[in-house]
Amino acid sequence: METVVSGIRSTGNLHLGNYYGAIQNFVKMQHQYNCYFFIADLHSLTTHPTPADLHGNVRQVLVEYLAAGIDPERATIYLQSDVPETAELYLFLNMNAYLGELERATSFKDKVRANPDNVNAGLLTYPVLMAADIILHRATKVPVGKDQEQHLEMARTFANRFNRLYNNEYFPEPYAFNFSENLVKIPGLDGKGKMGKSEGEGNAIFLSDSPEVIRKKVMKAVTDSGPTEENSEKPVEIQNLFDIMKVVSSADTYEHFDNLYNTCQIRYGDLKKQLAEDITIATAPIREKINDISNDAAYLRQVARHGAIKARESAQKTIRDVREIIGFRNF
Ligand code: TYM
Repeated sequence: METVVSGIRSTGNLHLGNYYGAIQNFVKMQHQYNCYFFIADLHSLTTHPTPADLHGNVRQVLVEYLAAGIDPERATIYLQSDVPETAELYLFLNMNAYLGELERATSFKDKVRANPDNVNAGLLTYPVLMAADIILHRATKVPVGKDQEQHLEMARTFANRFNRLYNNEYFPEPYAFNFSENLVKIPGLDGKGKMGKSEGEGNAIFLSDSPEVIRKKVMKAVTDSGPTEENSEKPVEIQNLFDIMKVVSSADTYEHFDNLYNTCQIRYGDLKKQLAEDITIATAPIREKINDISNDAAYLRQVARHGAIKARESAQKTIRDVREIIGFRNF
C-alpha cells in the first residue's frame, strides 16, 4: 500500500484554504492509503517562536484534524516534535542541500520580503525539514495545496540526491496530490492573493468561525462596481469570490451567479449572502465538533500518544536503514 504524509504548521486556527487544499484530501485518503498526518510544530518555530502560544496552537490543529474527520484508528496523527528521527534525517539531508537552491525557493523569498528582520537558517532550510517529514515514512503521495508544489519538487530533489550519493534506491519520489487532479489554491477575501493565516484581518475564514463571523467577513470582502459589458473577464477580487463559491456551493448556484455576472445583472450583496450561507453549511459539521473534542483532554492525550508511538516505529526503521546506508557502524 502506498504511504501518504502531510502536515500543517501550528500557527493558529485552520482556514478554508487548509481544508480544501489539504484536509479534505486527508480525510478521503485515510480509507485507501497508509497515512501519516502530523502537526508541524517544529516548522512553526521559524516564524512563531513564542513558548506561551506553542502548545495551544498545536492543540488547536489536533482538535481541528479530528473535528474534520481524520480518524486516529485509520491514520497516524502525530506531533512533528514527538518524532526526533525527523530532526536527525533533516540533519543528514542538510549536508546535501545547497545554499543557492534554498535561496531560490519562492516561499523563502516571500518570507524574507515579509520579515526582513528574521531571516533565520530554519527558514532557509524549511524545505529540507519538509523533505525529511515526507521521506521519513518513505511516502509517495503528499496531499497539499498549490502553494506547496515547489517544496515537493525540492523534496524529490533531496530524495534523489541521497539515492544517487549513496548509490541506493532507498527513497521513492514523493508527489503533491489532490483528488481532483489539480492542486487547489483558495483565495482570500482581501481581493489579493491566497487565503492565509498571516495575510491580515478578514482575509481568512476559519473552520472555527461562527456563522455570524463568516457572514461579516464575507460581506466585507472587496468587490468592484460591477460589470458594464456582457461576458467581460472578472477582476481578481470578483474571481476570488467565484473561486471560493466553486468549492463550497453547488454547481447550480455557481452557474446562476456566473450567468448574472455575464449578463451584467449581478448584485454582489446577493452573491455574498449566498456565499456566506454556503460556507456556513460546508463548515457546520466541523464547527459543531470542535468544542466537544477540545473539551476532551483525555482523548487528545490518547490520540497524541498513540500517534507518536506509531510514527516513531516507522521513523526508527528508516533511520536505522539510513544510518547503515550512510556508513555509520556500531563498534
Ligand atoms: P501550511 O501550514 O502553510 O498549510 C497547510 C496546508 O494547507 C494548504 N493551504 C492552502 N491550500 C489552498 N489554498 C490556500 N489558500 C491554502 N493555504 C494553505 C497548504 O498547501 C498545505 O497543504 N510546509 C507546510 C507544512 C508541512 C508539510 C510537511 C506539508 C511541513 N512539512 C510535509 C506536507 C508534507 C505548510 O507550511 O503548510
